[in-house]
Amino acid sequence: MRVSAVSLSILGLVSQALAIDPLVVKGSKWFNKNTGDQFFIKGVDYQPDITSTSEYRDPLADESGCTRDLPFLKDLGVNAIRVYQTEAYGDHDNCMQMLSKAGIYVMLDLSTPLESINRDSPSYDADLLGYFQSKVDAFSKYDNVFAFLAGNEVVNAANNTNSAAFVKASLRDIKAYIKSKGLSIPVGYAAADVADIRWQLQSYFDCESTDEQADFMGVNLYEWCGDSATFESSGYADIVKNFTSWDVPAVLTEYGCNAIKPRTFPEVATIYGSDMTGTFSGGFVYEYVEESNEYGLVSVSGNTGKKTADYDNFKKALAAVNPKGVSMSSYTPSGKEQSCPEVSKDNDWLASSTLPPTPSNATCECMMSTLSCISKITEVPTDTTKLNQFGKDVSSVFGTVCGSISCGDVTADGESGTYGKYSFCNTVQRVSWVMNAWYLHQRGVDGSCDFNGFATTTKPSLNSDSTCSDQKDSDSGSGGSSNGSSNGGSSKDSDGSSSSASTMTALSVGAAAIAVCAAVF
Ligand SMILES: *[C@@H]1O[C@H](CO)[C@@H](O)[C@H](O)[C@H]1NC(C)=O
Ligand SMILES: *[C@@H]1O[C@H](CO)[C@@H](O)[C@H](O)[C@H]1NC(C)=O
Ligand SMILES: *[C@@H]1O[C@H](CO)[C@@H](O)[C@H](O)[C@H]1NC(C)=O
Ligand SMILES: *[C@@H]1O[C@H](CO)[C@@H](O)[C@H](O)[C@H]1NC(C)=O
Repeated sequence: MRVSAVSLSILGLVSQALAIDPLVVKGSKWFNKNTGDQFFIKGVDYQPDITSTSEYRDPLADESGCTRDLPFLKDLGVNAIRVYQTEAYGDHDNCMQMLSKAGIYVMLDLSTPLESINRDSPSYDADLLGYFQSKVDAFSKYDNVFAFLAGNEVVNAANNTNSAAFVKASLRDIKAYIKSKGLSIPVGYAAADVADIRWQLQSYFDCESTDEQADFMGVNLYEWCGDSATFESSGYADIVKNFTSWDVPAVLTEYGCNAIKPRTFPEVATIYGSDMTGTFSGGFVYEYVEESNEYGLVSVSGNTGKKTADYDNFKKALAAVNPKGVSMSSYTPSGKEQSCPEVSKDNDWLASSTLPPTPSNATCECMMSTLSCISKITEVPTDTTKLNQFGKDVSSVFGTVCGSISCGDVTADGESGTYGKYSFCNTVQRVSWVMNAWYLHQRGVDGSCDFNGFATTTKPSLNSDSTCSDQKDSDSGSGGSSNGSSNGGSSKDSDGSSSSASTMTALSVGAAAIAVCAAVF
């Protein structure tokens, strides 16, 4: 019988055949929801630099870049990409549909170098939550977005582990938002490859209330170097052993090593072989595009791409694997959540299991309306020079005032788990609170609301802040109505400075307001 394309499309079979299968997490494994087969991520980290002069990079809004790269991705045989940096305001339809049609899933980082927790002076505010929400709004509509990451390598040393409390709070809140939208896209965190804090960090993201826990564990791992290394000698075996009986999936959000070149990717056979398939759901090789750190599979220039020496080696290694999983129906999860790591210097862990509160713009706006002395600058500057000056001015206000009077209401301490009631307000709001506190402390004497021209007096519209803490944002996902307009992602101009690091572990404007680009590890 001859079946015409027309009759197929009338029956809806054509579009059905083209749609990518939804994935679902059960216990510590990913499954194809339609077939019930276990899903293994055969991925590559994907972040071609579309405009090397811009800090705002978004390869999923670059149709010609996607068109250039799709044939390579298909040829490599990958079924997923991890994309680090995107912006909510871009038009992602073409790239996302192209990838979906090719059967390629996307794991998307919500944070960017400019919109994330600052490990050196961690704070978490409603601006960051709103930014994450706008990303979810922009990308959750695509059928191939199967996971989000709430942070990448924010914590990278024992002395900044306190920042984990802020990252985990943002993860908790974006999970609540996703749930409030009726979606079920898992949210994880990609951990840096730092042995002394590895286990504390993984446990921390899997302890206490499930509403706060990461839905999967992202592990960035660079330990397996060259053909003479083995599962045991590379250290992979110890890490894998520790994830046995874990209750959520573990995935290598970055893996590789280029100490020995050309890279032959011997670890690929193990990642998708019997030593690891019971524990890990595959991973993403670092990385697609060739950069100065020389991890790339493809060198791109304009609309052309050229295979590097490593390309065929990776393709061959991936083609040789055939991971055997279990079926969703025959699998009964038996994993257990972890207990929180002890908070102590001896344990190299300084993040309390008590997390910062959910930020609320309404609370902060209410507080602002009670102040008599506020910052003249009403928005954090995006221009780097102005931003740096602003950061210095803010630090100076905190330094001058908070030595003599308590700034507990606007400060947060992730180590002790103590968070002031306005600690989640943005930098402008918090510095205004401090200026006002000083002004009141000085009983409004001349010059006490000036701070070298940074402050100005104003007439408060509310005479008490006693009800401010009760005010919640309707769109926060934690109570209130779950509908609301998308924040749309504020459209920001690039400041023209160049960002050469590949993966920038990013820093928001904290008290120090210093934007630092950290190289990949
Ligand atoms: C808070 O307000 C800022 C500024 O209007 C906005 O960008 C952000 O998305 C808001 N956050 C939330 C959680 O609504
Ligand atoms: C934190 O520790 C790292 C090494 O792990 C060190 O390089 C850095 O200077 C330390 N920072 C502070 C503020 O002590
Ligand atoms: C495995 O977990 C134990 C604690 O249960 C920890 O002491 C050890 O360092 C971990 N090993 C690795 C390789 O992370
Ligand atoms: C809220 O969202 C739900 C699901 O997206 C939708 O069905 C409902 O109509 C929305 N309600 C309002 C008041 O917009």
